[in-house]
Amino acid sequence: MPLTHTKDLFAKALKGKYALGAFNVNNMELLQAIVEACEEEKAPVMLQISKGARQYANPVYLKKLIEAAVSLSNIPIAVHLDHGDSFELCKECIDEGFTSVMIDGSHLPYDKNVEICKKVVDYAHKHNCVVEGELGMLVGAQHDEGEEGGGYSKGGVYTHPDEAVQFVKATGVDSLAVAIGNSHGAYKFKGQQHLDLDRLKTIKKALLDAGMGDYPLVLHGASSVPKEIAQEINRYGGKLGEDTAGVPEADIEVARRVGCTKVNIDTDLRMAFTAALRKFFMESPKEYDPRKYLTPARNKVKELVRHKVKNVLCCAGHAFD
Ligand code: G3H
Ligand code: 13P
Ligand code: ZN
Repeated sequence: MPLTHTKDLFAKALKGKYALGAFNVNNMELLQAIVEACEEEKAPVMLQISKGARQYANPVYLKKLIEAAVSLSNIPIAVHLDHGDSFELCKECIDEGFTSVMIDGSHLPYDKNVEICKKVVDYAHKHNCVVEGELGMLVGAQHDEGEEGGGYSKGGVYTHPDEAVQFVKATGVDSLAVAIGNSHGAYKFKGQQHLDLDRLKTIKKALLDAGMGDYPLVLHGASSVPKEIAQEINRYGGKLGEDTAGVPEADIEVARRVGCTKVNIDTDLRMAFTAALRKFFMESPKEYDPRKYLTPARNKVKELVRHKVKNVLCCAGHAFD
């Protein structure tokens, strides 16, 4: 079975009102865990590859591993560049056959972000590839500087709804990553913070009202950093801080219902893998066969992905819609 195009996955997800899991792939075990879990749950899936993953594993290895996964499974699989940081990297991935790329100009001034996104869109659309842009900056749940009582200050770190419309129109990006209090990694929030889901609703509505239809939004930093996994890591010798915190899964569910079509998850997979390895090494210090310790690590990631697609993203059962 060939790759399924990102635009087809988006169209079905929007219609079916579920979110697609975009899981980061860095090696064979993570890839197998993700694809096997999605296969068993009959879930469509987006495999995403960062610049760091390409440097770690080599683009050719990743391409061949994904080819193997695609040929061994029946579910729809799309391949996406995560956080592309230059036109050249996006072009490389488009030329390799990725079905979508992200050009992340979110750290740039607005005009520069528009400029680089537009350049990538022009090339990508000529080559049948979908482009994700990002507006706003992911720094965790804090209010924009100068923002009072939930108002929408421009130029802050949160995505401004009007600016989102203007950005999509100016760049032609096919999907938009938003900043609504989300951030990457295992230390997202302090205390009981949440995503700004009202802002997400307002962004979605602003795009609809501006004639963009049911426009696909993307949520980066969507790991929930489960406490039990953090505790397991520390129980077996890890030293994660007490203040690990992720996005509550209930927030992700609301984000999905509001219209987040692509939900990016990496940290939770890394943590599950690490927890299983630490446990194994502590309990079986004499073992040195990588297959022995990579098997429980792969199984734990698989279990986590099954949970996400079934209970949080609700894309399970939609592979053959
Ligand atoms: O958002 C970033 C992803 O978790 C990828 O991380 O650049 O370390 O591969 P990475
Ligand atoms: P997490 O760090 O929350 O897993 O976010 C992953 C991500 O956004 C990849 O682009
Ligand atoms: Zn991200």
